[in-house]
Amino acid sequence: MTTIKTYLTQDHRECDKLFSDLENHVAQKEWNEAKALFEPFEKAMIRHFEIEEQVIFPAFEQKTGFVGGPTRVMTMEHQQMRGVIEGMKGALKEQDRNRFLGLSETLMILLQQHNMKEEQMLYNMIEMHLKEENDDLMKEVVNR
Ligand SMILES: [Fe+2]
Ligand SMILES: [Fe+2]
Repeated sequence: MTTIKTYLTQDHRECDKLFSDLENHVAQKEWNEAKALFEPFEKAMIRHFEIEEQVIFPAFEQKTGFVGGPTRVMTMEHQQMRGVIEGMKGALKEQDRNRFLGLSETLMILLQQHNMKEEQMLYNMIEMHLKEENDDLMKEVVNR
């Protein structure tokens, strides 16, 4: 079965693709296309955050006893990004291109740094500590 690390890394790329398509539509003022893409983008992002927060991070914390560390920082960053995504939704509704692009620039920076930390550090720790649990966790993940 696919490893958690491979799956979540791939999922980052899929979210990135939706994000950049959305941003391009707004930049071109293609409002109908942008509005159509917003929901799949938001759903994919929130689904990814929830898989981490509800399935993977708790399993990691339980296995390692490492509770106040990287998983907590990553969860706080998810919250911050949820706020920015909400702001983007409002800007899109008002067709405020500049406000949207300012917020999406912020999200881009937050997301790049966040994903880098996960892919270079946390996912490796997860892979190391949750080897035996991988297949059971992946079954839960793909059903989300
Ligand atoms: Fe994350
Ligand atoms: Fe992630």
